[in-house]
Amino acid sequence: MPGITLGDTVPNLEVETTHGKFNLHDYFNNGWTIIFSHPADFTPVCTTELGKMAAFQPEFEKRGAKLLAFSCDNVQSHNEWIKDIEGYTPGCKVTYPIVADPKREILKQLNMVDPDAKDSLGNELPNRALHIVGSDNKIKLSLVYPATTGRNMDEVLRALDALQKVSKYKVATPVNWKPDDPVVISPAVTNEEAKEMFPQGFETKKLPSGLEYLRFTRV
Ligand code: BEZ
Repeated sequence: MPGITLGDTVPNLEVETTHGKFNLHDYFNNGWTIIFSHPADFTPVCTTELGKMAAFQPEFEKRGAKLLAFSCDNVQSHNEWIKDIEGYTPGCKVTYPIVADPKREILKQLNMVDPDAKDSLGNELPNRALHIVGSDNKIKLSLVYPATTGRNMDEVLRALDALQKVSKYKVATPVNWKPDDPVVISPAVTNEEAKEMFPQGFETKKLPSGLEYLRFTRV
């Protein structure tokens, strides 16, 4: 797979955006950032997605996370298109920047190109990638969808909650985890260590193997 992936540092590229030019690390400013690509301006799925991201922005901000969108159209096109995005999703304001990358140079480095999607001139189109970047500028989670499949922003918010939870404690989040659900204690933590780390206690599930690796706690 070309471009960056989990654990990689996002390169400190200079980008041209609807909010002017800046370097990615300056924008991240040592905080959580969600960077996400979309195939093209004035297309249906993208219009719904960017509106939903704007509607979710207060929730992301509550968690200290910023948003940054990417596409291969230019800034003038993005600014025109924002009116449609806001018109389609009532009450939303697109206050996050949208990067313009007509040459696809930045998109390729960020693993944001769909090799099978082409515009009418045969140019490659961006995919629907979404990277959650941590405060160390490294990728903590990536979703890569094709142009034809819109993303689920509830899942993006849930995934951010999970990442932030496991960044604070030696735990992991089980299937379909939601905030306030119990978490599981990481396998690398021994029962002795777990007693120290989780004074609130933990529950070990009995399994046919007799192994004690499925331990739930609340943090
Ligand atoms: C869309 O946003 O609807 C779209 C864009 C490119 C290819 C397919 C769908």
